[in-house]
Amino acid sequence: MSLLTAELDQRQFQEISQIVYQQCGISLKSGKEALVRARLMKRLRALKIASVKEYMKLISSEKGKTEINTLIDVMTTNKTSFFRESAHFDYLAQEILPDLSTRKRLRFWSAACSSGEEPYTLAMVLRENIRDIDRKDVLVLSTDISNQMIAMAQQGVYSEERMAGVPQPLVREYFERIREGSKPRYRAGTELRKLIRLASLNLMQPWPMKGPFNVIFCRNVMIYFDRPTQQRLVNRFWDMLEPGGYLFVGHSEGLSGIRHEFQYMKPATYRKR
Ligand SMILES: C[S@@+](CC[C@H](N)C(=O)[O-])C[C@H]1O[C@@H](n2cnc3c(N)ncnc32)[C@H](O)[C@@H]1O
Repeated sequence: MSLLTAELDQRQFQEISQIVYQQCGISLKSGKEALVRARLMKRLRALKIASVKEYMKLISSEKGKTEINTLIDVMTTNKTSFFRESAHFDYLAQEILPDLSTRKRLRFWSAACSSGEEPYTLAMVLRENIRDIDRKDVLVLSTDISNQMIAMAQQGVYSEERMAGVPQPLVREYFERIREGSKPRYRAGTELRKLIRLASLNLMQPWPMKGPFNVIFCRNVMIYFDRPTQQRLVNRFWDMLEPGGYLFVGHSEGLSGIRHEFQYMKPATYRKR
């Protein structure tokens, strides 16, 4: 078996960065070489490819077209958790849902949902705060660029460690404990699943849905985009929201440096005027 050469020269780094930027808007600037190299080496090992040069040949060939999706998967960060940045869910429950819950039709969008923890959290908060939810038309559209993440969200099965952020009463109410192998795992139940519609969607491409949404969560993804890409995205979210609708972004993101007409409500919480 050939030995893997861990070389990634500057030109190759730029080529990879260019592909990733064009495909998904993620900006891998200089300084990210070590991260790109480490992630790339993992992929090369899995493919049993011996050098970056060979890999570059693959992705520029007809045969390698689908490999670009995997490259994007490898280069993106999927870190997430249940009730992540929980102040957002408190705000939703206390300040937004009391008004919204009188409506017949509600639309939420988890716009980079990763492995599903964010939309399942949303579904729990909606169930807990909208009394007659089954008599309403309520949907949490949940999208991500990664097919692999969408498949995990679809499966909706989580380890005990991943469930750590979910309060016990909610675990008992909405998850089924399953035993496969030595460790217990938890499967999201139908009460949550019937509120969620999963689909893969690249935020950089046209969006097939019409909206309008009442609330959009786009958290911890814009941080990877450059300013012009963030600006375009924020404008598009504005268009997708109903007047009075809310946009939640990650707490480390905010909208400073972006031109917008949203009203600032709380950290990383904005409302369309
Ligand atoms: C760090 S996770 C954030 C998950 C969740 N929103 C949260 O805050 O916990 C970022 C997600 O953004 C997705 N992503 C990256 N670029 C994207 C794009 N252009 N379109 C849609 N999703 C994208 C990644 O696949 C990843 O699952």
